[in-house]
Amino acid sequence: EKGGWSSFMAKEISEEPEAISKTLLGRIVDGAVRLSELDVLGEGALANIDRVVILGCGTASYSGMLGKYAIEKWARIPVDVELSHEFRYRDPVINDRTLVVSISQSGETMDTLMAVKYAVAAGAKTLSICNTQGATIARESDAAIYTHAGPEVAVASTKAFVAQVAALYLFGLHLAQVRGTLSPEEISGLLGELQALPDQLATVLEQHDAITQLAGWMTDTRSVLFLGRHAGYPVALEGALKLKELAYIHAEGFAAGELKHGPIALIEPGQPVFVIVPSPRAKDSLHKKVVSNIQEIRARGARILAIAEQGDAAVLPYADLVIPIPLASTLFEPLLAVAPLQIFAMELAAAKGLDVDQPRNLAKSVTVE
Ligand code: M6R
Repeated sequence: EKGGWSSFMAKEISEEPEAISKTLLGRIVDGAVRLSELDVLGEGALANIDRVVILGCGTASYSGMLGKYAIEKWARIPVDVELSHEFRYRDPVINDRTLVVSISQSGETMDTLMAVKYAVAAGAKTLSICNTQGATIARESDAAIYTHAGPEVAVASTKAFVAQVAALYLFGLHLAQVRGTLSPEEISGLLGELQALPDQLATVLEQHDAITQLAGWMTDTRSVLFLGRHAGYPVALEGALKLKELAYIHAEGFAAGELKHGPIALIEPGQPVFVIVPSPRAKDSLHKKVVSNIQEIRARGARILAIAEQGDAAVLPYADLVIPIPLASTLFEPLLAVAPLQIFAMELAAAKGLDVDQPRNLAKSVTVE
């Protein structure tokens, strides 16, 4: 069943381009989004919501953060992202104008299921983004957008994450369509970029061997930090989660802007830091700011492992290693930047002789609260 791969996780990472294209398949028609599964919500339902709350745990909560960035930018609706298990215990403000979007690969995560039930009881509209046909969370929700990543067997979530992000982006563009916050030309342009991602991601996966080599050098490492900003921040959090989960190494992800508010004190000579570098082409100053973060930590002895846009010369003088990714707009970069971190965690775990598919103490689906 592993199809010649050493683990299910390796196989599932190799399936990521397909997971994205299958999730988009049939849902883009003539340069517009067509999500017929939302019809059950009734005409006008999405035009009337005034807030979105996204719920998920672990990796699903990080795809949720990207969903927030996309929905707020494209559809101009306020979005909160919350861990499912925190949500219902703090008396959250939700009502019939709130759309609660739950994200779950398995569709059986008890924390998320209970949060969805709470949202239903409070009168919110509910939408599930789920990878498993007919799963409980999807059945409990008013509507479901299935990701078509195919079965994910390895405990560590990989292809489901990129499929969730693709589904959330489709949904964000659908909302923008319904609410008229983007022009049809803008929507069709963004959908075109989304459709280009599977091929771009396939080229990133070709760097597997170089990343394996890096992991092989780092088997004695005790701590790894991950820095990202804007769309790179959830990628940093996901990179750290993968490393903890698989290689049992202390890892933490930070928003790069937060460094000077505390975490920079952790930097000592030799500390490895992965940095997800924003594109130098983006019309904001984030590239410059992150490069200056790199300079600051490099001056204190950090070893910089940069994931940066192809041809980004500014990082070269300060990086010990650069993993290049193809050119993409800011919100699409995470779909290209996350795979190297998944591969790194997997190969480091393998190099330490650990069980990549079934890490200790973890279950694929957490069905207790
Ligand atoms: O099935 P779900 O998407 O609801 O699972 C949520 C988390 O338990 C899951 O993403 C977990 O964090 C993964 N093991 C991470 O790789």
